[in-house]
Amino acid sequence: MRLIIRDDSDNASSYVANYIIDRINHFGPTPSHPFVLGLPTGSSSLGVYKILVEKYKAGLVSFENVVTFNMDEYVGIPRDHPESYHSFMWKHFFSHVNIKPDNVNIPNGNAPNLEAECVEYEAKIKRSGGIDLFLGGIGEDGHIAFNEPGSSLASRTRVKTLAYDTILSNSRFFDNDVEKVPKMALTVGVQTVLEAREVVVIILGARKALALQRCIEQGVNHMWTLSSLQLHPHPMVVCDEDATLELQVKTVKYFKSIEKVAKEQGFEQILPSAIRTGTKDIPKTVVQESQSPTLQSPTILAPQPMTSQLLRATSPAAEYPVRSVSPDLVPDRMADRVGVPDLSRRLTPNPEQQRVTSVGA
Ligand code: GLP
Repeated sequence: MRLIIRDDSDNASSYVANYIIDRINHFGPTPSHPFVLGLPTGSSSLGVYKILVEKYKAGLVSFENVVTFNMDEYVGIPRDHPESYHSFMWKHFFSHVNIKPDNVNIPNGNAPNLEAECVEYEAKIKRSGGIDLFLGGIGEDGHIAFNEPGSSLASRTRVKTLAYDTILSNSRFFDNDVEKVPKMALTVGVQTVLEAREVVVIILGARKALALQRCIEQGVNHMWTLSSLQLHPHPMVVCDEDATLELQVKTVKYFKSIEKVAKEQGFEQILPSAIRTGTKDIPKTVVQESQSPTLQSPTILAPQPMTSQLLRATSPAAEYPVRSVSPDLVPDRMADRVGVPDLSRRLTPNPEQQRVTSVGA
């Protein structure tokens, strides 16, 4: 787990936006090999979209060969409702960049058959080669996408009934009237998120502090579904100082020190690798370990989460980017240093026997 802490929401958003731009640019997407980006909605992602749009306008990134999959959508409100996630995405992001409308995927919460819509959504992610980077936000109860407390950690795209906490929280977008908030949504599953090659989550503000604490300092728990990120090889949480309010001081210090030491030692970020930078040479299908491309040194092939291993046969994103190696402690047996004692040179022959004799006396 990487936890990046920035002083405020602007700096956290800017870190995330620049990270995404860097990933897309290193990947070098083409029409036949697009970069597949998972996206969230919510106020926490607004700053990221704003910067992505600015950087696009400044010519620093192109979304022409980017395919997107949104995390979720309400069920039962019209697509053009101002609070639908379709409206959110077009208003804050898609309308301002050069993404092709055909490359945009958002679950259809008005589909005649919602179950079929979910199955097809999951299948489309697989057909696209899996998600390269899933950007997420969380709810105050630690949900990722709309995977509410108690969701299966092996869940996939499906219809979900919203928790009362979420309905209350989201009523701010519906004239503070809980009755107007949809009670159901379509959402990618926890497993769908975990199968992305990278997951980046932005968490802003004191109201998310408890969720961040549960997800980072405690165990994997279906009541705080973000905690499932602990099973992913490359999760990164980017937050502001306010979101760290419930963390222990030593946790905050530790994660800050990782960043500092990494910078000093020069093993800071994911190093470019064939997988990370795209594809030109690698088909975007499952890369078996034995077929792994030659990697630049120093790099390691990251372990895959157990959940993905169980589902590997059907998982499109079974290959993960590689990270630079951080210096490891090499355990050293004390016995190896001492060497084999030469018993013939003992000062007291048979000391054990002598002790028995003297006790007897
Ligand atoms: C909803 C969405 C989540 C999103 C969350 C964050 O619950 N389903 O995907 O992460 O909102 O909302 P905000 O950033 O506004 O707190």
